[in-house]
Amino acid sequence: MIREIVVYPDKRLKLISKEVESFDGALHDLLDDMYETMCAKNGVGLAAIQVGVDLRALIINIPLENEDGEHDQPKENTLEMINPVIIEKDGSTKFQEGCLSIPGVYEDVERAKHVKVEYFDRDGNKQVIEDNDFLAIAMQHEMDHLDGKVFIEKLSYIKRKKFEKEWKKRLKEL
Ligand code: CO
Repeated sequence: MIREIVVYPDKRLKLISKEVESFDGALHDLLDDMYETMCAKNGVGLAAIQVGVDLRALIINIPLENEDGEHDQPKENTLEMINPVIIEKDGSTKFQEGCLSIPGVYEDVERAKHVKVEYFDRDGNKQVIEDNDFLAIAMQHEMDHLDGKVFIEKLSYIKRKKFEKEWKKRLKEL
């Protein structure tokens, strides 16, 4: 089921999400719905709070190009991370990010180049993943959502002011 995306500056995006305690059917439904919602909106990642659920759960699915040159995000490629924690990070890199909660806005953001993350899968098994490419950035972006942060908070004061002014206009048009 496609769920409604929470759009900035909705106050729910500021919530610190709670740890998941039961890896049950309700969690699986949430993750399945998040996948459908993300695909419907052409996103590469989504945190639970972006569909209004304040649980420490996120998904990432980096599109592959299929034989016809179309972007494909098969469900089995979805990385589902529950209660993720960064256990190592180093380096720095800049990348143009976007967010389904702030549609149409893309800005350069600086983040760690390499991260190692410990998390649980949907069945409650502990996993570890590390990356120093786009996935590392996506994990940091989505994990920020679990702590009530969105990427535009990382912009300079001037860029942030410009964004807020333009966003107010955009919201009136939506
Ligand atoms: Co986002």
